[in-house]
Amino acid sequence: MSITTTSMPFWKEYPERDNEWVRQYPTKHVPVAEEEVFGRKPMGAYVHIPFCNRLCFSCPYIKHQTDRDLTRTYLDALKAEITNYANRPYVQDHEITLGYIGGGTPTALTAPQLDDLLDHLFGSLHMAADPDFSIETTPVDITERKARVLLDRGVRRISLGVQTFVAEELKNLGRPNDPEMLKNSIRLLRKCGFENINIDLMHGINGQTMESWEYSLDVAIELGVTCVSFYTYMEFAQVSTKRRKLPPVPERAVVDDMFLFAADKLTRHGFLGYYGDCFAKPGYQPKYGETSWSEDVPIIPLGPTATGHLRDYWYFNEPDIGRYIQTVMDGRLPIAMGKHITKPEAIRRSMVLGVKAGRVDRETFRRLHGVDFVEMFRAEIDDLVDKELITLDDKGIEVTGPKGWYYLDNISKAFYSQEYRRYPQHLGADISNFISSSSLPLEIITRPSAEEACHDH
Ligand SMILES: C[S@@+](CC[C@H](N)C(=O)[O-])C[C@H]1O[C@@H](n2cnc3c(N)ncnc32)[C@H](O)[C@@H]1O
Ligand code: SF4
Repeated sequence: MSITTTSMPFWKEYPERDNEWVRQYPTKHVPVAEEEVFGRKPMGAYVHIPFCNRLCFSCPYIKHQTDRDLTRTYLDALKAEITNYANRPYVQDHEITLGYIGGGTPTALTAPQLDDLLDHLFGSLHMAADPDFSIETTPVDITERKARVLLDRGVRRISLGVQTFVAEELKNLGRPNDPEMLKNSIRLLRKCGFENINIDLMHGINGQTMESWEYSLDVAIELGVTCVSFYTYMEFAQVSTKRRKLPPVPERAVVDDMFLFAADKLTRHGFLGYYGDCFAKPGYQPKYGETSWSEDVPIIPLGPTATGHLRDYWYFNEPDIGRYIQTVMDGRLPIAMGKHITKPEAIRRSMVLGVKAGRVDRETFRRLHGVDFVEMFRAEIDDLVDKELITLDDKGIEVTGPKGWYYLDNISKAFYSQEYRRYPQHLGADISNFISSSSLPLEIITRPSAEEACHDH
């Protein structure tokens, strides 16, 4: 049977057959420069130093007493790990725009060790023109010489573990208990040229009262620090059983009030809230967490327990220092566990972690993921707006203070996918240094509520 054009009159799906032969997609074009295609993309690095010169009995983090031989071997391994990453083409396609050196206590290293480590780090990886690097220290471990090494190498933000300016409370934490020394270390850093100084303060310490908490906040404000991070003190069984009898920790309701009080006081003194527990003067917000979380900048994890996310995986490193050193010296990366992040989960991850930074920008999100998160999560966002936990405008969403900051983790979890809802996070890395080492089975003591406290007495 012969087919003629008149044999297909019933094909009426389109008025006419399209005669443009499809070759490309998308169909709109804008100017594109070589740099845009091949320029190095931003990347961060987290460097973990698991040593302290003096171990505080109240501390749950994995850390080791500085030891000449172990520290030297560790630094050799850490440099080998940096070199391993630096040699990978994927890493070479990026430039380091931000970094965080945490611990333990990174400044437990000597000035020459810090200099050598930073020299290797900055010399091996492609660094952006002015990378945003932060480092942690205790007030006792920072010296003028170390401060100068850090500044000369380009570290611009320093975070001091102050905890409290009250001598008795410092003693209850097993920390050197001279508040004057704490103040002097802040003055020293300022004199050396550090403009961006964060201090960690803890609330809920044994013997702490609302009045003593206010005193510590007042001293911090008076000293002119640019950022204050709060930690809610977790008391461990081994502290109370093995040490002298400590006064009780404040009850839960008081600790909650301490948070709200501090948030109110710091915002009245010109600080802005980030991550719910960090308050910074405008322009001094911690970039490491914010940029890497909300803009999905890949992070290289360096050192035992360090967490990173590269090539659509988030993962954390081997926590045991001996196994870490062995693996790295065998020429392998010390990756312990992690998870592949699918595209839908990458979108949720930007929401979950973006909320933790206090705000999610609509335009940045659209550029990153090609979707409008407000449309995508309309039900969750409407519910949070109704509860006055976030505000929504054309630019995006912002967590309200102090109510939203107080519930920050609840808000963040509203964006979990079904698969991860109610699934606890693995305690394995950076925040999660809280993993106990095998020789220290730590048990967190539950803080009493007001009723329980009354009942006990
Ligand atoms: C790894 S430390 C880094 C700073 C430095 N090593 C120091 O202690 O000064 C980070 C912070 O963890 C907090 N931290 C220590 N022990 C804690 C505990 N038992 N509960 C909650 N936070 C704690 C402190 O605020 C400390 O500054
Ligand atoms: S609180 Fe800081 S200095 Fe004290 S043991 Fe822990 S990490 Fe080290």
